[in-house]
Amino acid sequence: MKGVVLAGGTGSRLYPLTKITNKHLLPVYDKPMVYYPIQILVDAGIRDVLVVTGGRNSGDFLRLLANGKEFGLKHINYTYQEGEGGIAEALALAEHFAEDEKICVVLGDNIIEGSIAGAVDEFQRQERGARILLKKVPDAERFGVAEIQGDRIVGIEEKPKNPKSSYAVTGIYMFDQTVFEKTRHLKPSDRGELEITDVNNAYIREGTMTFSFLDGWWTDAGTFDSLLRAANMVKQSREVKVEDSAAAL
Ligand code: DAU
Repeated sequence: MKGVVLAGGTGSRLYPLTKITNKHLLPVYDKPMVYYPIQILVDAGIRDVLVVTGGRNSGDFLRLLANGKEFGLKHINYTYQEGEGGIAEALALAEHFAEDEKICVVLGDNIIEGSIAGAVDEFQRQERGARILLKKVPDAERFGVAEIQGDRIVGIEEKPKNPKSSYAVTGIYMFDQTVFEKTRHLKPSDRGELEITDVNNAYIREGTMTFSFLDGWWTDAGTFDSLLRAANMVKQSREVKVEDSAAAL
């Protein structure tokens, strides 16, 4: 499976922090934000990674990440999203890279405590379709929200005023090769973007969407509050790990 990190868009919710740099280059505790989604993919055993950048600072990604040596990679692929037409528009740019393999997509502002290796393994065994990771949250109206009946997702609503569940769709998605055909049929939403939720709903209609629940904490980092929360959560996790290894001595 190949990995795709989506790090385009303008980060307008973090203005003026994003006035002179790309949101994904901002610090989250002791690392630039984009390090976290790349590490999620690497920890799941994915070695072939594409970073979709955008905006005025895309050259800085190359300077920062180079060929991915810090992640144990030999090479990183890059592409550029002109404008900010939405997550699904950024994803569509990965078609050449994917070359008919399954892909695991991580949004550039998503940070997790645990690992997605189990979900990636399960998706490897899934013949076709897509798999998403859900997380129970207290503020579901900020996210894509899954409606679940029995063991199936019957629909996803993007930022609903009255969420049908408290299960947020995290920014970690696994897709088969048909994802690119699906992106070609999308129409811009009310916010003028090609929505990843519309892609996921296409898989749900087709009956090929599966899901897992994400272990450990999860946060985005695209608002002032969530950026601060992300930094605090990363710091706490590091401290717990140091305490655990000291206790093991
Ligand atoms: O974090 C999970 C949520 O992410 C999901 O629950 C939602 O269903 C999904 O739509 C998305 O919601 P946001 O409104 O928070 O997405 P945002 O516009 O903040 O974009 C998230 C990342 O996607 C961003 O850090 C970079 C990438 N992106 C976004 C846009 C709009 C791109 O690469 N290009 C884009 O044009």
